[in-house]
Parts: sequence; structure tokens; C-alpha cells
Amino acid sequence: MSDSWLSERTQKFDSSGIRKVFDLAERMSAPINLSIGQPDFDVPNEAKQAAIDAIVSGKNGYSVTQGIAALRQRLEAEIQQQYGHADRRVLITSGTSGGLVLAMLAMINPGDEVIVFDPYFVMYPPLVSMVGGVPVLVDTYPDFRLDANRVREAITPRTKAILLNSPANPTGITAREDEVRALARLAAERNVALVSDEIYRLYCYDGPFFSPAAENPRTLVLDGFSKTHGMTGWRVGFAHGPAELIEAMTRLQQFTFVCAPHPFQWGAVAALDVEMQSARDAYRRKRDLVWEGLRDKFDIARPDGAFYMFPKSPWGTATQFVEAAIKREVLIIPGSVFSRRDTHFRLSYAADDRTLRRGIDTLRQVAEQGS
Ligand SMILES: Cc1ncc(COP(=O)(O)O)c(C=O)c1O
Repeated sequence: MSDSWLSERTQKFDSSGIRKVFDLAERMSAPINLSIGQPDFDVPNEAKQAAIDAIVSGKNGYSVTQGIAALRQRLEAEIQQQYGHADRRVLITSGTSGGLVLAMLAMINPGDEVIVFDPYFVMYPPLVSMVGGVPVLVDTYPDFRLDANRVREAITPRTKAILLNSPANPTGITAREDEVRALARLAAERNVALVSDEIYRLYCYDGPFFSPAAENPRTLVLDGFSKTHGMTGWRVGFAHGPAELIEAMTRLQQFTFVCAPHPFQWGAVAALDVEMQSARDAYRRKRDLVWEGLRDKFDIARPDGAFYMFPKSPWGTATQFVEAAIKREVLIIPGSVFSRRDTHFRLSYAADDRTLRRGIDTLRQVAEQGS
């Protein structure tokens, strides 16, 4: 194939860092895998059965673009009760990623700037570039706290949106209510769109979750079932925000994803009735286990959300540390995949306790071994 077939946008990003680790995992017989960004529990049975019933009863065609009424209306009622915003609408998306793609397509013109916090979820900068925007990175090292003043300094006349993710991938840090309110007010004051990726909303361990939508009614929220219900392969997410924006995203969905997978939308309806607090409690305990196991050997911003932590490499670059860990069969991801810096690594504790204990022991040894 001729190289000229590839668009320039495909040259703007590279996913080799994370893929390399996943490729290595495939080749190892029993790796200590702390690299996975998805829950280690299965989809709740009620949701599975509802999806099976939907398939067996023939709900296999397209759904309406905006998502089946049973799911949309249920979410709309919950969201309305929570925020009471007259102008807030819901769209069912193809995973949270689908919502992110539609949001960027709906808002970003070529040359528009989008503020992204560094470290970031891997998809954010390439996605902004793909739609012709310019990612503007706001550094949050060393504590990964959300500081509205740093954002204020980064805002220019071309700033169109701010992309917030809390609880955060890859740091596991949850923004506090005062931090979120300050950012939400800043966005309102400067007429910048605030996009809040709340996919890890369930996993807040040391306090309640706080959404910027509670402070700024024009916030666009992206959410989904992947992490809350272990449904990463089902591709069901949702977006809620100002009616006009949701309407534009719905039109774009019609010409791209068409709809979220229809039978799995029925699975998601059933999932809404399943109590998931036990999953949160289980990950809180795992957070404690890994934190206690590593804190004296690593410099780590204490994680209080999602199922990640982002320790600083005790020697060398993060890539060098990760290579040494992988030689010992511990799979972790170098921070350079999520950041301009190559100083930290991401560890996911969405794994069974035995794997976590083996991981802790080996990482401690690698820390001591030095470069
Ligand atoms: C912050 C964040 N947003 C979005 C996604 C994508 O989620 P989905 O599977 O719903 O597309 C992920 C997945 O890792 C994530 O970490």
C-alpha cells in the first residue's frame, strides 16, 4: 500500500508504549499483570441475562440514535433529580470513548485549544489533534491536584474546552469539591466549555464524588458502564449536558457510530438496578493493600479513586524501571505513555490479591536493585 494513502492525522499519534506492554503480556505464561485498565470482576448476572433476553427476543437491529427510551429516560430521571437543570439532556453513546469523540467533533474547530491535564488519559491529546484541535497540557506534578490557577494561566482567546477526568486515570487522584468548584467557576467566567469525564465516578474511596456540573450547569458530562459494571466490551456509555450540544452530538452519532450496541443497552438498563458498592469497597481494600505495600519504597501521591496509582520511579527513567520490572514479569506502564514526563509509572490494582501481593514483592525488589 502506498504511504500516501494515510492521512496526516494518523501520523500525529503513536500508541506503541502501551501496546508493547500488552504484546509482552500475551507472550508470558503467568505475568503479574498490573497494567490492565478495566475491572477484574465480571458483568453482573442481571445485566448479562437482560442482554441475553434482548438478543433472544430479537432486539438486534439498530436502536434509535439517541439510545433506547428505557435507558435514556431512566438516566435522565436520575440526572434531573441530582442536578435539576432544565436544559440538561442525555445521549447514549458507544462507550465513554464514543462520547469523547462526539464531544470533540461537536465543539472543536481547527486550531481551537483544548486544555488537558498532564498526566492524562491516553486518548485525550491524540483525539484533540485528530479533530484538528491543539492540546494544551497543564502540568499537575508532583501531587496531581487540580489547580484552577494553573488553568487560568493556560487559557488564551483560542481556548475552547477543558477536559477534566476525576477520579483520574492514570494517577488515581480525585479532585476535591473546592478544586472542582474553582475550575467550574473559571470555565463559566471565561466561557470555556468544561467536559467532565466521570467514568470512574463510582470509585471514590475517601469522600463523595463531586461533579463540576453541580457548580456549572453548562458542563458536559461523559460517563459510562465500562468501569462501574465491568462492561468494557459492551460499549455502552452516556453523555449529559446542554440540550443544544447533546443535539449536535446526536446528529454526529447518526453519521458515525449510528447507535450504541442495541442488546447491551438493555443489559445496561438492568445494570442500573445492581448495587455496585461492594465493587467499590473491594477496590478500596485493594488500594489500601498496595499503598501499604509500596509506600515506604516509592514516592506516591496517595490515590483516592479509580483503580490506579502513579508511583515515581525510584531510579532511572520510568521506562528503564518498567523494563526492569517486566524482566521480572511484572507488567506496568511507563508514565511517558500518559505524560510529557517519563518519571512515573502506572499500576492498576484491578487484580486478585495474590497477583497484587506478588506484584508488591517484586516491585520492592526492583526498587532496591537500582539501575
Ligand atoms: C478516563 C477514561 N475515559 C474514558 C475511557 C474509555 O471508556 P469506554 O470503555 O467507556 O470507552 C477510559 C478507559 O480506560 C478512561 O480511563
